[in-house]
Amino acid sequence: MRAIPDVSLLPLAELVSLAGRTAVVTGGARGIGRACGARLAEAGAAVLLADVDVDGAAEAAATIGRGSVAAHVDVRDAGSVRALADQALAGQGRLDIWVNSAGIYPSRPLFDLSEDDWDAVVDVNLRGTFVRAQEAARAMIAAGNGGVIVNVSSTAAYRAAGVGVAHYVASKFGVRGLTQSLAVELGPHGIRVLAIAPTVTLTPGLEEQREALEAGGFELESLGASLPLGRVAVPDDVARVAVFCASDLASLMTGSTLLVDAGELT
Ligand SMILES: NC(=O)c1ccc[n+]([C@@H]2O[C@H](COP(=O)([O-])OP(=O)(O)OC[C@H]3O[C@@H](n4cnc5c(N)ncnc54)[C@H](O)[C@@H]3O)[C@@H](O)[C@H]2O)c1
Repeated sequence: MRAIPDVSLLPLAELVSLAGRTAVVTGGARGIGRACGARLAEAGAAVLLADVDVDGAAEAAATIGRGSVAAHVDVRDAGSVRALADQALAGQGRLDIWVNSAGIYPSRPLFDLSEDDWDAVVDVNLRGTFVRAQEAARAMIAAGNGGVIVNVSSTAAYRAAGVGVAHYVASKFGVRGLTQSLAVELGPHGIRVLAIAPTVTLTPGLEEQREALEAGGFELESLGASLPLGRVAVPDDVARVAVFCASDLASLMTGSTLLVDAGELT
């Protein structure tokens, strides 16, 4: 059992800083993952942007700079995730932060939803989160510095907000429970596990699904206007909270899912 250190006497600037830490962001090529990579790098972490779209990840790394690098990963494949964790560990000899943003959300009304559609979403979003957390934790324990795993969940982890998303909602409810279970099992290793639940967030993936989501009842623009804070999210809204989760500001937080929802669930 390793107790999380008490950081009360550290100055705020030191608590926010991620200098000297190594971070992996899955789904780092675009959208929320890319924004997380940019903010983690700005906070001082050495960032590995991993994605099945390795060209996109390379472009993101070149744009973000600050020593960030790209890697290939397919989160459906445990061997690929293990290779990524090994690569991260080999680079700096440590692995401190692992953000799970890679996820998919193809919309399908219930009676069009095939078992293959179901499996595809659960495979990436839920099984893939389990595999990623397991491999990240293995590497963090090997490095011996503790660590933080941040799962990108969704307000769909709390309620179904339209038709066509049963498989997605089930996967994100699962991520919330998995986050709690991982927190219990990994806490004694000094590894914190948190999740972030964003409201609708304007990303390339969302744009690809816009038509189908709107057919299922998500009126994206009017949803933003109806929220207490008056707009939906942009990726950086989530990324700033990811930095908070990863930093020592949140050093006694684990198992929670943090809503970044402009008041959607309030
Ligand atoms: N955009 C939203 O409205 C919204 C809201 C709440 C939660 N989320 C969650 O945020 C996360 C990111 O969503 P986004 O909108 O940024 O999506 P996006 O499609 O813009 O980006 C997702 C990235 O994940 C990568 N990816 C997909 N499958 C992969 C796999 N098998 N292996 C490795 N990489 C893979 C894609 O190549 C892409 O670069 C997802 O988990 C999503 O469920 C999104």
